[in-house]
Amino acid sequence: MSAAKQALVVFSPSGKRGRFAFGTPVLQAARELGVDIDSVCGGRARCGRCQVEAVAGSFAKEGIISSPRHLSDMGEDELVCLQGGRLKAGNRLSCQAKILGDVRIDVPASSQVHRQVVRKDFEAHPVKLDPVIHLYFTQLTEPGLQSPQDDLQRLMQALDRDWGLSGLDWDLSVLKPLRSAIRGSQWQVTVAVRDGTRIVAIWPGLRDHIYGAAVDVGSTTIAVHLCDLASGEVLASAGSMNPQIRFGEDLMSRVSYAMLNPEGAGQMTRLVRAAINELVLQVADQAGVEPGEVLEVTLVGNPVMHHLLLGLDPAPLGSAPFSLATDHAIELPATELGLRLAAGTRAYLLPCIAGHVGADTAAVMLAETPWESDRINLIIDVGTNAEIVLGNGARLLAASSPTGPAFEGAQISAGQRAAPGAIERVRIDPATLEPRFKVVGGSRWSDEPGFADELGKQGVTGICGSGIIEAIACMYLAGIIRPDGVIDGTLADSSPRIESSGRTFSYLLHQGGPGEGQPGIHIRQSDVRAIQLAKAALHAGTQLLMDRLGVDKVDRIRLAGAFGSHIDVKYAMVLGMLPDCDLAQVSSADNAAGTGARIALLNKASRREIEQRVRQVEKVETAVDKDFQRHFVAAMHIPHATHAYPVLSKVVRLPGAGAGAGAATENRHRRRRSRTKLQKG
Ligand code: FES
Repeated sequence: MSAAKQALVVFSPSGKRGRFAFGTPVLQAARELGVDIDSVCGGRARCGRCQVEAVAGSFAKEGIISSPRHLSDMGEDELVCLQGGRLKAGNRLSCQAKILGDVRIDVPASSQVHRQVVRKDFEAHPVKLDPVIHLYFTQLTEPGLQSPQDDLQRLMQALDRDWGLSGLDWDLSVLKPLRSAIRGSQWQVTVAVRDGTRIVAIWPGLRDHIYGAAVDVGSTTIAVHLCDLASGEVLASAGSMNPQIRFGEDLMSRVSYAMLNPEGAGQMTRLVRAAINELVLQVADQAGVEPGEVLEVTLVGNPVMHHLLLGLDPAPLGSAPFSLATDHAIELPATELGLRLAAGTRAYLLPCIAGHVGADTAAVMLAETPWESDRINLIIDVGTNAEIVLGNGARLLAASSPTGPAFEGAQISAGQRAAPGAIERVRIDPATLEPRFKVVGGSRWSDEPGFADELGKQGVTGICGSGIIEAIACMYLAGIIRPDGVIDGTLADSSPRIESSGRTFSYLLHQGGPGEGQPGIHIRQSDVRAIQLAKAALHAGTQLLMDRLGVDKVDRIRLAGAFGSHIDVKYAMVLGMLPDCDLAQVSSADNAAGTGARIALLNKASRREIEQRVRQVEKVETAVDKDFQRHFVAAMHIPHATHAYPVLSKVVRLPGAGAGAGAATENRHRRRRSRTKLQKG
């Protein structure tokens, strides 16, 4: 071919360019240059995945004048695609458009196989879309007396010819549909191939979408996200309570149940699997997808959830040395987990890290990538156990701390889950000791007009985790609670909200009353103690990791989980749950475990990455560490017995900073006035 019959083709955004003979299909040019353009149908103008746009204009850098007219006219197949809505107006199918002159070709993100999927729900890094399963459309040769090969052989030949796929594995369950699929579709089929090595599904004709589910098995809730593996989009999400909760709210209760009841572990395994099946059906239904089209599932959970899901005995996780059955990532047919999905569907469980630090923490790490930073990152996933990761690109440490369920509102006298009617925000006037609060489902503060009307009949039903943390932090800031956590009974003289309950005192946060038909909501001494124990466990675990890392401060704190997204970090820090840190550097990582499960679903390389990273994590076992108890005792104080919290003190006046005699007197007067008002009310 002479040089005069060649054209310069420049692809954007990659910048790759090359000279090609007139008549070369754009897709072929792209392939030769290594430009990433998607295709399921193999250039048959069927899938619409290979769309590009020819840009008009003069480009000095490349020295070309580009025009859409430098591509061949649309042929019949392309026009059919355009009329059928599979080709966007102005775009061309790169498998059909031929090069007839210099041209700049823009490859939109939607046509790139390995495109970046920006996670809308999460601030961190976009995910590079590269799922473990890809679709391949192919045309088999018809069998005849002269070509007597079997169906499978002809399928393998077609896949090798069209896609260069050879030596593929298969099993009987996916082979069964092959015979009817090819005969019902003029010998055209779409094949789903996993990891370039195994056929996992076969459909007649063209199929251009497949789906995957990311499952986060928490001890309290289970969440399932259905993703389109072609676009990375989350199509539907659903969640439910973990039905195992009836055997105990916290992990150790479930381990005990499994130890004390011969059928206990099996019962819990069946329940969690049934719940996942139910949720997958729900999300598939919401998205209008057949459950049989869900071909890949990733699952994360803490070690006890992980073992129960797999049907492994969780008992050794109940006592030192807290041995895992395996800390490796596990890949297996989804049917082995009792999931009612397609026969070829595989499940991937992220690796666990240590006896109490599970695949959920591995997923949080995958979402947060602390190894990409030089700064000291502290990542905390608060559930019935707090899982803690500390470090940076140089070193990462992980531990778990037994916080118990108090942060979720359990073990609190008026505690409840964060559901409509639960107090979730609290403020207390330090002068009058009068509270105001907001409840889940309401938009008004309790001292604003219309608050009661907005709540309706339901009224105020209890207090949830974020509410109890704010309530106790505000009680401390108002001087109602002393640094040792004791509710100061001497204030009962000046505020009717401080009530005697035998040898201890309580604080009346909400009066309830006959109108509401509900009892008042008190913060009792036992509630303060439950929160102190939980926060001391969390702080001590964090401190232990900081000691091991040799740091006395952290640069950034990320709080994962539903709890992390609800609490006001300022009040969590006032309580001493977290180490002193610039509040601007403390943020919610939202549902990082679920996000990590989705990343593993959408990007196969991320699986190898997290498998490698968890091997490098230094595990610290808090339960048997001799320093844990010492840190725990110091952390029982609010905010802490020995840490002064200088950074927090710049934005919050902590008790002891001195309010002045005049202010104290005025406060006493105001309390008296509010006492009179409350009694009258
Ligand atoms: S590759 Fe399928 S339409 Fe072009």
